This record gives sequence, C-alpha cells and structure tokens, in this order.
Amino acid sequence: MATMESLIGLMNRIQRACTVLGDSGGADAASLPSLWEELPSIAVVGGQSSGKSSVLESIVGRDFLPRGSGIVTRRPLVLQLHQTEGPPEYAEFLHLPKRRFTDFALVRREIQDETDRLTGKSKQISPMPIHLSIYSPHVVNLTLIDLPGLTKVAVEGQPDSIVEDIENMVRSYVEKPNCIILAISPANQDIATSDAIKLSKEVDPTGERTFGVLTKLDLMDKGTNALDVLEGRSYRLQQPWVGVVNRSQADINRNVDMILARRKEREYFSSSPDYSHLASRMGSEYLAKLLSQHLETVIKARIPSITSLINKTIDELESEMDNLGRPVAVDAGAQLYTILELCRAFDRIFKEHLDGGRPGGDR
Ligand code: GDP
Ligand code: NA
Ligand code: MG
Repeated sequence: MATMESLIGLMNRIQRACTVLGDSGGADAASLPSLWEELPSIAVVGGQSSGKSSVLESIVGRDFLPRGSGIVTRRPLVLQLHQTEGPPEYAEFLHLPKRRFTDFALVRREIQDETDRLTGKSKQISPMPIHLSIYSPHVVNLTLIDLPGLTKVAVEGQPDSIVEDIENMVRSYVEKPNCIILAISPANQDIATSDAIKLSKEVDPTGERTFGVLTKLDLMDKGTNALDVLEGRSYRLQQPWVGVVNRSQADINRNVDMILARRKEREYFSSSPDYSHLASRMGSEYLAKLLSQHLETVIKARIPSITSLINKTIDELESEMDNLGRPVAVDAGAQLYTILELCRAFDRIFKEHLDGGRPGGDR
C-alpha cells in the first residue's frame, strides 16, 4: 500500500522535526508534544546481553550497533529508518547534522564515542538519548529504540542505584501506550526468569503491544528445545512469538556479515528437526515483516486521532508563523515551517486516500 507507506514516512519525518525543534528549544505549538506521543515507535527490552542490539541490527539489515558481552549499550539510541527511492544509503546523527555517514563502521564508532562523551569510558549509563537516522531504499519506515539491558546487580565502577536507574529508564519508554515492545529473552535461560517478560507484563498486562522474541536458540542445551515458548504454551501473548538466531560473539569477531548471517539463520530453521515446521514464521526477516505489518494496523487505527491532531497543529503553527514578528530563533522558525509543511502533506495525502474510497475512513 503506497499511501500507507507515505503516511508512515511523513509521520517519521514529523517525529524527527519535532525532535530537532525540541532540541533548539523553540516549540510553542501546544499540540506538538501530543503529536509526538501519537507516533508509534518500537523499543527493545531485556536483560543484559540477551541480544537486544543484535535483534535491532538484523531488523535494519545493517551492521552498525555496538554489541558484545557486558554493558555495551549505555544510552538510549533512538533510531529512525527512512525509506528512500534509491541510493545513496547513509546515516545522520542529530548531534552532527552536517555530516553524512556512508561507512557504517564509522556509525558504530560514533555511537561509542558519543556514549563516552556523556558517561566517560566507564560502565555508567545516561538517560540522554542519541538520535540516529538511516536513509536507505532497503529499510521500512520505522522508529526503533535500543536501550541498556536490565541487570540484577551493580558491578565494579557502577553506583548501587544502577539496577533501578536502568529499570526506570527503560520503563519510561515502554510505558507509553504508543510503544511497541520487543521483549527479548535468551532461549538458554528459563523463560520464568525473563526480565523482558517481567517488565512488559507490568506495562502491558494484556500483551497487545508486546512481541516476544526468543534469541540464542542455537545455544540451548542439546536435547532441549523452545517449542513450549514459541508455540505460546509457556507464556501467552496476543502477538506471536518469534525465534531468532543472531551472530555469536565468534561470528562478530570473524566479521561474519549480515547477508551470510541471515542465510545461516534461514538454514538453521529450515534444517532443524525441532523448528522446521515453524520455519516460515521464524527469523529476523520475518520479525521485521511482522513489525511493519503491525505498525500499519496501529497507525490505521490511530489515523482519526492523528489527523485531528495534525490539523490542530497546522492551525497553531500557522498562527505562530503569523506572529513571527517577535524574536524567535532562526532554526526554530525554520523547523516550525518544516513541521507545518510535513503536516500539510500528511493532511493532503490522507484526504486523497479518503477520496480514493480506500480504507482509513468509514466508507
Ligand atoms: P544486548 O546486550 O542485549 O544488546 O546483546 P548484544 O546484541 O550485544 O549480544 C550480546 C552477545 O550475545 C554478543 O556477543 C552476541 O554475539 C551474542 N548473541 C546475541 N544473540 C545471539 C544468538 O542468537 N546466538 C548466539 N550464538 N549468540 C548471540
Ligand atoms: Na551486551
Ligand atoms: Mg545492547
């Protein structure tokens, strides 16, 4: 559905423009914060080293996130994927607006450096998010959020409050009703001890916006399998469970690339005596497809409230633009104008959509 894709794309850009505006401190239009709240995003939740960053990376289909054992992700990363018509494929950080990254190894380095800039080369964490946008013809329009892993004890160099600090930080993202939760649990630990399930159950008790993802299927004890979890008998969610096999640390050290990793993952499921009957509903590529379908459904259901908010925002921004006689930061003025233009485009495409008699309205 081309129209839906362009609506999601526009929402993505409005979200980004709101972020930039918030950063330059000039947001006056009262509905902008609620507009941001309406726009769905997807966040990963789980214990440390459960495979959160690895799962996000394979959804994007690109190598660019720091991964590894121990506490690697120490600041939230808000990752916006923007689908483009064609190459070039590039990434851009909000804190480095003039620089286009085409080498994704440098993106990973910049995430590490920017993390260290706030926290030092320590095991400390910071709730200040890093904002990254990826422009590519190979991605779907999505906002993904990588978060530090939940832990049980503070390690050397961390304050005692870190366990609670991380939990509160993660909760502040996933408690929002517009947040789709990717609850990541490693298959080589008992699901009853999963931090991901514990927290998602707390913020989403009905399980309607939680996707259970089971990682490390390849690391389970020989003679055991995860069918009770994957077939929904251990812990029921409204959305299906998806099992994945990410790159192992040895694969990372050997620079196994994404294409090979995906092929190995597909082979793992199709040749597995335990899981071959589920092969078409397993793996990272299937997870990405499932998420974008879900997002489409969520946005469709929210379109009436989003369009009325967008219209309200247009009205407010128009009157604010009229009043620009008073001093206003140049950047903020330009950003308001961008948001206004994006909102108008959204409204126009939405109306064309209705005129075409397509779903989204009542007829
Ligand atoms: P995070 O801390 O939750 O973000 O986890 P990471 O994505 O950084 O992964 C932690 C470690 O587990 C890394 O060494 C990964 O290579 C490894 N890992 C993650 N998923 C899998 C998996 O499905 N199979 C195997 N064998 N290793 C995995
Ligand atoms: Na880790
Ligand atoms: Mg991580």
